[in-house]
Amino acid sequence: MTSAKGLRLVERDASGVDLAFRADVLAGLAEPQKAIPARWFYDDAGSALFEDITQLGEYYPTRAETEILSTRSAEIAELIGEGRAVVEFGSGSSVKTPLLLSAIQPSAYVPLDIAGDFLRASAAALSEKFPGLPVWPVEADFMRRVELPAEVANLPKLGFFPGSTIGNMIARTATDLLRSMKDTLGEGALLLIGMDLVKDEAVLLAAYDDADGVTARFNLNLATRINRELAGDIPLEKLRHEARWNDTFARIEMHLVATDDIAFTVGGEHYTMREGESIHTENSHKFTKRSSQLLLAAGGWEPRGRWTDEARQFSLVLAEAARPRSAP
Ligand code: AVJ
Repeated sequence: MTSAKGLRLVERDASGVDLAFRADVLAGLAEPQKAIPARWFYDDAGSALFEDITQLGEYYPTRAETEILSTRSAEIAELIGEGRAVVEFGSGSSVKTPLLLSAIQPSAYVPLDIAGDFLRASAAALSEKFPGLPVWPVEADFMRRVELPAEVANLPKLGFFPGSTIGNMIARTATDLLRSMKDTLGEGALLLIGMDLVKDEAVLLAAYDDADGVTARFNLNLATRINRELAGDIPLEKLRHEARWNDTFARIEMHLVATDDIAFTVGGEHYTMREGESIHTENSHKFTKRSSQLLLAAGGWEPRGRWTDEARQFSLVLAEAARPRSAP
């Protein structure tokens, strides 16, 4: 696929297989603890299932973050100031993004996403809601430094990274991303970032293992996608969804657990799993005030403001790009 800017985004082989997906899956299934990066959940079916998750009673993060953005918007806007170009890492949500954009007086909106179709659709919807606001979508993998459109080059930036998506990354990857965001946004940038909080284990487990089984379908859809796109024959009926709390790393893990000894093929490679063995499909790290500030500091960002919802389930942190200096 080639974007308007001629960037090559998804490399495919002659039969249309996404080579990065194939490489991640084959390598991940060959590990002693099988593991596949969570970003591969989001094909069309997976993206729709995630939308369903955000509506679940048990899944508090979306509601809590939306509550913060709507009830604390005046304080947030005060610290951000007017005239910044908002650079959103991800296509944007139909609820949270408009809340932010109407709270501040932005000079432009730049959504970054690797999924070009979603990106263009949500950018178009947003343009309609905010006539007069320049919208410059960029199809790119934001895990690396992104070249922003020339039209926003000289504007001060506000990065927006809601949803606690940062929690999907282990510390090393998260700091790499925070640093590359700093490179993308430039000097004097601010970052408004959602970070989910450590809380009662039962509440966390329910949020990732809902009674209706929507999260289970979301997790199992990854195996369905592998079978379809990578010529796999993983026996779906012998995998079950499991959410686990890992207290050492303060994270919810999602696994696909084999309910029997199984053998299967993916992309011509053979794999086996013993009963009870799992494929680790997602980490969702939960933060405290201190751990969130430590992670941001490690990534080169200094906290300037922090808000939680009334029930203190979720936090939204405003941070400023730190000037490089040598310790201490
Ligand atoms: C979109 C990454 C924030 O980790 O809570 C929801 C994804 N996984 N239920 C999260 C997810 C299972 C979600 N993020």
